[in-house]
Amino acid sequence: MVLLDGKIASAAIKEALKQEVSQFTAGGKRAPHLAAILVGNNGASETYVAAKVKSCAEAGFRSTLVRLNDTVTENELLASIHELNGDASVDGILVQLPLPKHINEQKIIEAVDPCKDVDGFHPVNAGKLVQGLPGFIPATPYGIMLLLEHYNIVTTGKTAVVIGRSNIVGRPMSILLSSNRPYGNCTVTLCHSHTKDLEKICVQADIIIAALGKPEFLKASMVKEGAVIVDVGITRVPDSNSKTGYRIKGDVAFNEVSLKASAITPVPGGVGPMTIAGLLRNTMESYRLQVTGC
Ligand code: GUN
Repeated sequence: MVLLDGKIASAAIKEALKQEVSQFTAGGKRAPHLAAILVGNNGASETYVAAKVKSCAEAGFRSTLVRLNDTVTENELLASIHELNGDASVDGILVQLPLPKHINEQKIIEAVDPCKDVDGFHPVNAGKLVQGLPGFIPATPYGIMLLLEHYNIVTTGKTAVVIGRSNIVGRPMSILLSSNRPYGNCTVTLCHSHTKDLEKICVQADIIIAALGKPEFLKASMVKEGAVIVDVGITRVPDSNSKTGYRIKGDVAFNEVSLKASAITPVPGGVGPMTIAGLLRNTMESYRLQVTGC
């Protein structure tokens, strides 16, 4: 069994990005610049944004963190996005989700300039993905593709099951795996809460992407011998033995599933670091287009 280690793969990607950045800066160009907007103080969002900011520094990127109170109005948040859209020194913008209930998330996603939408959430980038056109791919599915590439997982002609149909992970993942591209060309089944006989569908799959947000949902009985398993789950479950008071659990019952899988991601340390690698790659691409104009 191969452990698909996102820490190792993301470190290699960050190192390559760092080299690329140093070539630009040695030529007198500025560094790539990611701006992150964090609304309120949701503990998980704080952790994710802090990890993104730290990774920017590791790759030689500049980052700006815009912190807004959870009482911020929708118009104030929109004004902050418009300012970053108009700032020529900013290559990438991300608004950490979820947002407080009084803010219309879709309106915020659509306010980000599609050319700086390094999260790939804007409908323009979602549409480009569907049509196989160049654009920003959502960071988590992009990171999973990079992980499959790092470990040279054969996907062409394989059957893949994606569990979960969110715009952030499941749906774009199903499009990528079914596309005619490296680490694509799978026959994909996209499963969701209304899917009947999920176990029967999963047990036939060569590759399973679990992205439904239910801790330890995918059991060994649902997995074919030799399958490749990618766990996108990151649920915080209470744990009185832990300093933080919680433990992170994936969507896969790792201990039993790993006995049958040919390759599997751990949680933490699997998909999480790869999401950041995808985000940085998108930011680098936006930067390259800005500074080289091609
Ligand atoms: N919340 C959960 N995942 C993500 C992500 O990839 N990007 C942003 N901006 N928010 C998220």
